[in-house]
Amino acid sequence: MQVDLTQAIALLKSGNVVAIPTETVYGLAADATNDVALHQVYAIKQRPADNPLIVHIADVSQVNNWVTEFPPLAQKFAQAFWPGPFTLVLKAKENVSTIVRSNQPTVALRIPSHPLALKLLQKSGLALAAPSANKFTQLSPTTAAHVTAGLGDTIPVLDGGACEVGIESTIVSVENEDWCLLRLGMISEAEIEKIAGKPALKNEKPLPKVPGQHLQHYSPRTSIKLFESRDALIRSVESQNSCVALLFGKGKVPDCAYFNLSDNPNEAAEGLYDTLHQMDAMKVALLLIEAPPKMPEWLAIADRLGRAAHGE
Ligand code: TXA
Ligand code: MG
Repeated sequence: MQVDLTQAIALLKSGNVVAIPTETVYGLAADATNDVALHQVYAIKQRPADNPLIVHIADVSQVNNWVTEFPPLAQKFAQAFWPGPFTLVLKAKENVSTIVRSNQPTVALRIPSHPLALKLLQKSGLALAAPSANKFTQLSPTTAAHVTAGLGDTIPVLDGGACEVGIESTIVSVENEDWCLLRLGMISEAEIEKIAGKPALKNEKPLPKVPGQHLQHYSPRTSIKLFESRDALIRSVESQNSCVALLFGKGKVPDCAYFNLSDNPNEAAEGLYDTLHQMDAMKVALLLIEAPPKMPEWLAIADRLGRAAHGE
């Protein structure tokens, strides 16, 4: 069900959920201070209660409402990457809802750059907890139509067009003057390291069970097989009953339907989930996917494809 900005604000203020656009993926948003609304987010997503949510805010001046300390290194990251596809995990104030942070001592914060998301945050005055607007373990939505297809037409959706980044934000935790990379995204480890002036700490503490860490996250319903080489993918076609293929860059797959994503990683990320949604809808037996180039700027895409294919 489509709603406009005014309706979205009214719904969120009265404790309802609304699917909202961000530059990464659509989020299922709720007032981050309203536990009843937050419970609805978990229920609709069928998400385990031990998976904390990201809190979206309008302005960096709001960080201190949520955290006990905003270390200089985290301030540098905020300055460099916000608004944008970057999430900071910091030590939470005690009064931050235990639902939003799943009883973790930390809270995840992000200022999105999508103009409609920013307008919504500014005009409502709310901080919005928003996980991706899909059922747990399924593909994230990058259009309003994906949200409705995945969650049903009863979910109000604010349509902000197709998401431009296309995969979920990079997540970094900061403690004192050290940082850890918790989830890969299109803001790369190298870019973050450049701002930090030092490499990431290896994360040795067990993480909370975050969806991005579950191996079977981001899965279409159809099975996936990843191929390290295009030749191997093409050779495998004849042994398949029904399949559809995905290549990075130009090229053809004889005797099989296929999609081409760009050989530019930013463009490929933008189209990735929409293409996987389309391939999934073709109801074939197997998705044949070419592994992306083994280069740092492709790591986030390789991460999502690896998780989607896990167990196949
Ligand atoms: O791009 C994005 O990040 C999108 C848009 C909507 O902002 N959101 C998103 O949310 O991907 P979700 O719930 O699918 O993933 C949020 C990630 C999870 O891996 C979650 O566990 C992690 O953020 N997270 C949230 N709070 C955390 C915390 N306190 N400590 C560690 N990880 C946390
Ligand atoms: Mg998600």
